[in-house]
Amino acid sequence: MKLTADQLREFEEQGYLFLPNVFSPQEMDILNAEVPGILATKREEVIREKGTDAPRSAFYVQTWNPVYERLARHPRLVEPGMQILGSDKLYMHQFKINAKAAFDGAVWQWHQDYGTWFEDDQMPTPRAMNIALFLAEANEFNGPLMFIPKSHRRGRLQAGHDVTTTSYPLWTIDNETITRLVKEGGIVAPKGPPGSVLLFHGTLVHASGSNLTPWSRWIVYLSLNRCDNAIRRFKRPTWIANHDFTPIDMLPDDCLLTGARRQSAAE
Ligand code: SIN
Ligand code: MN
Repeated sequence: MKLTADQLREFEEQGYLFLPNVFSPQEMDILNAEVPGILATKREEVIREKGTDAPRSAFYVQTWNPVYERLARHPRLVEPGMQILGSDKLYMHQFKINAKAAFDGAVWQWHQDYGTWFEDDQMPTPRAMNIALFLAEANEFNGPLMFIPKSHRRGRLQAGHDVTTTSYPLWTIDNETITRLVKEGGIVAPKGPPGSVLLFHGTLVHASGSNLTPWSRWIVYLSLNRCDNAIRRFKRPTWIANHDFTPIDMLPDDCLLTGARRQSAAE
């Protein structure tokens, strides 16, 4: 899927781009059928919220679930990344499903992903980004992602290592800086149905609140990096910050549907 010149300009200006209904209901059914089993799996890549058994994130799913293995190579997600990052040699720095579970989903503090990619992984430059696919609806109640538009233009901001607020350590930005940035840029929270895609820059400042609703806010994230911008430090395990820089080999556009047909024929 190719982005238009206008869409590329909007991403450059705002630091994000929201595209509703990129995947069909049939494709979303195939993806969503896997999620309860993935989140219930007891393995180190599935982390829980602090103090509860509720799933927070399932990492590296593309290596242990065949449906998500195909999604990680989907041209509707990977090709826009290639356009924006200006290279057809990208690898998957991180791949995760964030559950933001009904009632139990906890916050993600204000941060830039590149803050963590730089501090923990020594990624040389911010030529990396996120492509998020909404598996469930994100609405104003269930902890949607919040962005400070245009904050990506500031480059990497000073951050502190927060290892206590949630179960997942993160390099976060202090309240004074957030107050200043929000005065200038405001806050947006793109909301939409399953199948919507949200692309955002590695230095865009973002966060999300907790989820007090009965509606889990499942989102799958592809964090794509240029192969020539590969990380230099291997402090975090490969399932959090991939040590394998093999370029992504895209599949055909109908790969989710043909994969499902192949699987049911084999059964
Ligand atoms: C993230 O910032 O990596 C995740 C935020 C969210 O899923 O709300
Ligand atoms: Mn983030």
